[in-house]
Amino acid sequence: MTKLWGGRFSQSTDALVNHFNASIEFDQRLWKHDILGSIAHVRMLGKTGIIDAADAQTIEQGLVDVRRDLEAGVSEFTEEAEDVHMNIETLLHAKIGPVAGKLHTGRSRNDQVATDIRLWLRDELGEIRMAVRRVQTRLIDLAERNIDIILPGMTHMQHAQPVRLAHQLMAYFWMLDRDAGRLAAAWDRADVLPLGSGALAGTTHPIDREFVASELGFSRISENSMDAVSDRDFAVETIAALSLVMMHLSRFSEELILWNNPEFGWVTMGDNVTTGSSIMPQKKNPDVSELIRGKAGRVYGNLVSLLTVLKGLPLAYNKDLQEDKEPLFDSVDTARICLDVLGVLLDNVTFHGDRMMEALRGDFSTATDLADFLVRQGLPFRQAHEVVGQIVKFCIQSGRPLEQLTNPELSEFSELFSQAPADLAGVLQSVDARNIPGGTARAAVEIQIEHAKAAIAHHTG
Ligand code: ARG
Repeated sequence: MTKLWGGRFSQSTDALVNHFNASIEFDQRLWKHDILGSIAHVRMLGKTGIIDAADAQTIEQGLVDVRRDLEAGVSEFTEEAEDVHMNIETLLHAKIGPVAGKLHTGRSRNDQVATDIRLWLRDELGEIRMAVRRVQTRLIDLAERNIDIILPGMTHMQHAQPVRLAHQLMAYFWMLDRDAGRLAAAWDRADVLPLGSGALAGTTHPIDREFVASELGFSRISENSMDAVSDRDFAVETIAALSLVMMHLSRFSEELILWNNPEFGWVTMGDNVTTGSSIMPQKKNPDVSELIRGKAGRVYGNLVSLLTVLKGLPLAYNKDLQEDKEPLFDSVDTARICLDVLGVLLDNVTFHGDRMMEALRGDFSTATDLADFLVRQGLPFRQAHEVVGQIVKFCIQSGRPLEQLTNPELSEFSELFSQAPADLAGVLQSVDARNIPGGTARAAVEIQIEHAKAAIAHHTG
């Protein structure tokens, strides 16, 4: 086995220790960003005269060749070279010989890895935000197409007040909109260049950090080398933002699972997005929604993992930090596929407005409208609540649906009802009476949808 660690070592690394120490199995995912970082670094070394301009040129070309070989699949990473940084340097050495040894001038793997992760994360966060946007666009689309479907809105999982399906779907739009905002904030937090921090204390070479930052598209450089190489708070923020994405997707999934249950029968999921049972021939299961709900747990777990890795670390770099990558990668991958697969699911669901309307029949969900009417006639709300409560009790005892009581019948509980419009307990009047910003009236939901479209255009434009 080769000795990578130079003169200080007189024994090669134990094979098990080497295996335990190596991160190439997972950090190879950073290889393109590692090369990008190295190209920027070596350009800076040449430009500042820290190394010979011709050597810098040779190294840059070597890195380009290494990248081409990796893309073509003709070179391989090895566990002996431990991690992505040493692997790339080893491949570079094989390509251009000892001059490759000049690349690591004025830098350390500690500032290198922090740079790689930030570079990689900015790209991934861009992708995830687009995936969030795609789901939001589908929600707008579904809301527009189903604007006239009304269903029982729930509190405590009990029929509460009728709402438009569009309104309920748009609730998830706004949750995702805040998620997109948090992902943008996480991007901004990642947008800082650590390179130039060296192992922990900076470097004696006259490096040009601003040049490297502009080469790599970072808008600013880190202010403190010890902070830059050892904190991963930006990764925690990303996983926290993704945890909230997953929490929202999980809630929506739970809703779809319930609505898909035949007792509800409010939604049908296409055969292409459901799965069967190996034993029960009749089954058609909402596995996609269940898996999204389940995978929220992984991402929360990743958040706690990384926080726990970080909590006891003294400054500056510690090898514990190598444990940052898998939770971060897994969170990004999990959120991404969940968003994408939810999009496919939403393209293949049919909402059943008739079943939802049936569920509203005799469910007392317009009782508040009766009370609000009495308030408009001057009765204090608490008294109105009491009166309508008695009406509901009467309906339950006599088996009558609220919406079928006539005005004379209602007037027996309060003469104020003699002035009531005929459809006071009707579902449609109930939703459209809530015509305030943020309400469930058709006009209000239409305005909401316009605002949603503007929000999307603003963020993606
Ligand atoms: N593979 C390491 C990591 O992910 C790179 C940095 C190693 N630095 C060190 N001093 N051993 O953290």
